[in-house]
Amino acid sequence: MEIFDKVEEIKGQINAYTIDSVETLEAFRIQYLGTKNSIKPLFAEMRNVPNEQKKEFGQKLNELKVIAEARYEEVKAGIEQQSNKDAAASLDLFAPGSTLGQGTRHPVSIVMDRVISIFEKIGFSVAEEREIEDDWHNFTAMNTPEDHPARDMQDTFYLKTEVKSDIQRLLRTHTSSVQARVMENSKPPIRIIAPGRVYRNETISARSHCQFHQVEGLYIDKKASFADMKQTLLYYAREMYGPDTKIRLRPSYFPFTEPSAEMDVYWGLKTETDHKITKGTGWLEILGCGMVDPNVLKNCGIDPEEYTGFAFGMGIERQAMLQYKISDIRLLFENDVRFLNQFAAAK
Ligand code: PHE
Repeated sequence: MEIFDKVEEIKGQINAYTIDSVETLEAFRIQYLGTKNSIKPLFAEMRNVPNEQKKEFGQKLNELKVIAEARYEEVKAGIEQQSNKDAAASLDLFAPGSTLGQGTRHPVSIVMDRVISIFEKIGFSVAEEREIEDDWHNFTAMNTPEDHPARDMQDTFYLKTEVKSDIQRLLRTHTSSVQARVMENSKPPIRIIAPGRVYRNETISARSHCQFHQVEGLYIDKKASFADMKQTLLYYAREMYGPDTKIRLRPSYFPFTEPSAEMDVYWGLKTETDHKITKGTGWLEILGCGMVDPNVLKNCGIDPEEYTGFAFGMGIERQAMLQYKISDIRLLFENDVRFLNQFAAAK
């Protein structure tokens, strides 16, 4: 019977099929075990087989399947064993373990930590507070009136809240909000610095960003004076920029200090870049400062008749950019490892 010959033929093919690679094994599987395998059509021939031979034919077809499966499993096991052997042969038990790539400190953290340790040496301790503030601590307590331009939507990120509340929440625009919180919660003498992130609704460019870092300082005691402040800031400038650093204080205005000043350090005019970054003056503005306004003390529960204080606030990004000659502030927020890796050895 012709159809029986066909079965024998396929059986011969299965046994003779050369399987010598993962690819030929897969071709074999598709050919004899896949959904469109070449054994399948033979089952359809069953109806042409005389009744007395149907049983035998069925058995032969099943046998074909079993042979194909057995061959497949056998070769597959062989290939797997071989690849395990290969892997074992190339396994060097004495190779040193692979190390995890070590991260580097971010330039902003490096500078911030330096600022902190400079002030810790003279007895300041670190105070940290929330970044989502209410307008009392960020503005009102800090003597910043309702109509002050800093309160404008253009400068401040205000938060929409689901629950109806009289408290307007916002992303703090400066770390001066920490002053208010610390004064509310502690009794003088107070000597704190407050490092942290602040937010302003500014267009992002090479020179300004909508988020940056500040370190705030607050000193309150019975006879804290402007001279104490100047000496403290001179100490800071010399620790940070070298023992011969010169500073100058220029009159300025902040709602929460009176009198107010801005402090410059003398950077020099040696190079063309020096001219550019100091606008030809040689001086660089580093921070804002002043004597804590009596209204602020009162707002935060401290008697201005008994206590006086000084406060200062400095930006960190600008100091990091000066120190490491970074020309674009955006680099500090992109976390590109090619940029960050350059600070691996930075102190
Ligand atoms: N908060 C001010 C600013 O963000 C800086 C400052 C702090 C000035 C403390 C005086 C006293 O510009």
